[in-house]
Amino acid sequence: MKIHNYSAGPCILPKSVFKKAAESLVNYNESGLSIAEISHRSKEFMAVMENSVKLVKDLMKVPEGYEILFLQGGASMQFYMSGLNLLPEQGTAAYINTGTWSSKAIKEAKLLGNIHEVASSKNENFSYIPKKFDVPHNASFLHYTSNNTIFGTQFKEAPNTDLRLVCDMSSDIMTKEVDIKKYDLIYAGAQKNLGPAGVTLVIVKKDALGKTGRTIPSMLDYQVHIDKESMFNTPPCFSIYTTMLTMEWLKEIGGVEEIQKRNLTKSSLLYDEIDRNSLFEGTAKTEDRSVMNPTFILRDKLLNDEFLQRSIDAGISGIKGHRSVGGFRASMYNALDIKSVEALVNLMRDFEKSKG
Ligand SMILES: Cc1ncc(COP(=O)(O)O)c(C=O)c1O
Repeated sequence: MKIHNYSAGPCILPKSVFKKAAESLVNYNESGLSIAEISHRSKEFMAVMENSVKLVKDLMKVPEGYEILFLQGGASMQFYMSGLNLLPEQGTAAYINTGTWSSKAIKEAKLLGNIHEVASSKNENFSYIPKKFDVPHNASFLHYTSNNTIFGTQFKEAPNTDLRLVCDMSSDIMTKEVDIKKYDLIYAGAQKNLGPAGVTLVIVKKDALGKTGRTIPSMLDYQVHIDKESMFNTPPCFSIYTTMLTMEWLKEIGGVEEIQKRNLTKSSLLYDEIDRNSLFEGTAKTEDRSVMNPTFILRDKLLNDEFLQRSIDAGISGIKGHRSVGGFRASMYNALDIKSVEALVNLMRDFEKSKG
């Protein structure tokens, strides 16, 4: 039976990527060696790293003046590392709180300076994106989470501010076009749209660095990783390799511009059904709905278990909602085919009919 993978992360990647990655795990490019058993300093792996950097630059149209890094520690490490590298000692920064991940970013940044939570949607269980906020005049940057994986909301545009932006793009990087020039820093754990877990993509503006007056431990210093081209220590070679394959796949199908169209088509299909179907309702404010992680509930909670069982029977995997929202969450990352969305929509229609 075909399984439709709606997992929130780690999550679906293209089958062709897994196939190639699996081959390379056994015999990389007919070398008789696995990609996971060669030196990260070998010319073969150096080429993987070089190509990965180039693909990020091409796909995201990264202008001159930015560096691309592949680091470890997940997006969670970046919550602290970003402040450590960009916030001067005794400095001030503005943060928008749109959910669990922003709250965690704020908690870590508070270890480093004066952190102003300038807007929050906590009062309504993070079901919307706050649009109005005032920033302190001396703030070094504004941090936000572009897509809220758990609560199913998403910034449709970057926040309107004169401040430099720092963004956690873990769950929507390379799913839509972004104007990189507005950002001093973008970071994203790979394990949604880029590749398997274990690597974190960082895009940092070079001239934003070196201004904090702090002594930064080597492993947490972007400049150290820049100087060593992401090889200060042993990088997560296999995760980076598989991320490279995923980016090659994205390039082949037409890049970010094309995938953005496909993602919008997929999310419209599902949201239209959520709105039409008398049994379901969306949990996020309509204008702020995430293209990646639609969240929805059954009006009658007593039907939850039955619908979930029917989804499993139909090969639809991973739609149980996060406990902080309840109901259902259909994570629809780049690699999820529209046919999988059609399968879910059909299931919702059949379920409505069966309840007559
Ligand atoms: C938006 C966002 N930020 C941060 C994280 C945490 O990422 P990691 O597990 O790589 O630390 C996640 C994980 O799902 C996420 O969705």
